[in-house]
Amino acid sequence: MAKAEENHFYSERLLTLNPRSTDEYVKTIYDDWAETYDKVTGEAGYIAYKTCPPIFDQFVRENLCNDPSKLRILDAGAGTGIVGKVLQSLGYTNIDALDISQKMLDEAKKLNIYKEFICAPLSAEPIAEIATNQYDALICVGTLTVGHVKPVALDEILRIVKPGGIIGFTLRRDIYEETGPEKCGYLEKMSEMETSQKWKLLKCELIDYHLNVDELRAKCYSIMYQVL
Ligand SMILES: C[S@@+](CC[C@H](N)C(=O)[O-])C[C@H]1O[C@@H](n2cnc3c(N)ncnc32)[C@H](O)[C@@H]1O
Repeated sequence: MAKAEENHFYSERLLTLNPRSTDEYVKTIYDDWAETYDKVTGEAGYIAYKTCPPIFDQFVRENLCNDPSKLRILDAGAGTGIVGKVLQSLGYTNIDALDISQKMLDEAKKLNIYKEFICAPLSAEPIAEIATNQYDALICVGTLTVGHVKPVALDEILRIVKPGGIIGFTLRRDIYEETGPEKCGYLEKMSEMETSQKWKLLKCELIDYHLNVDELRAKCYSIMYQVL
């Protein structure tokens, strides 16, 4: 694939996503992107896959268990598996991968890190392959974002993590702060779940997201919740 064609994922195709984009459309984008995803995001200095997992790890160890190999983890929106690789280096050995794109999961399979692979969209619909309270903790990096995993899917994320479990994810700065052109509704949904005591906020902090692209994508929020 020519360089210009590779880069169009960042410069053009991702920007075509909006809060009303269908799961089918997102899946097509990532199926097409799977083979060159690591290279293109690497060139853009994508770094959240490295900056978020250590924070998740800290809260998992503090709240669940200091030996993460004993815990069952879901990497939601696992993509090509680069988050799983970082988790493995931190001592996680029981990780499943979920993604809407089979082609992204095919790349992740090559790493021999994940146990189970679930190709399904995170949405308002329960995922048949995943039982209620199946996971001790769930991480979701770069995936709760415009047109990808929508706010309604937070109920499904909550369903599959045990009470007391940790849910850690990133959220783009403009989406969290709602300074972008369109209101996505993540903050409202997150607050509603806090008010109704479904989860409690453990930490929300700005972390590095990309090193080589515009200011909009330089930082993101790393957000950690505990299921109540
Ligand atoms: C920006 S990539 C992030 C991948 C990986 N977490 C990382 O940090 O490199 C977003 C991933 O989310 C997946 N995705 C998008 N919408 C999704 C949905 N509704 N349910 C599950 N996966 C989704 C895409 O296929 C893609 O692999």
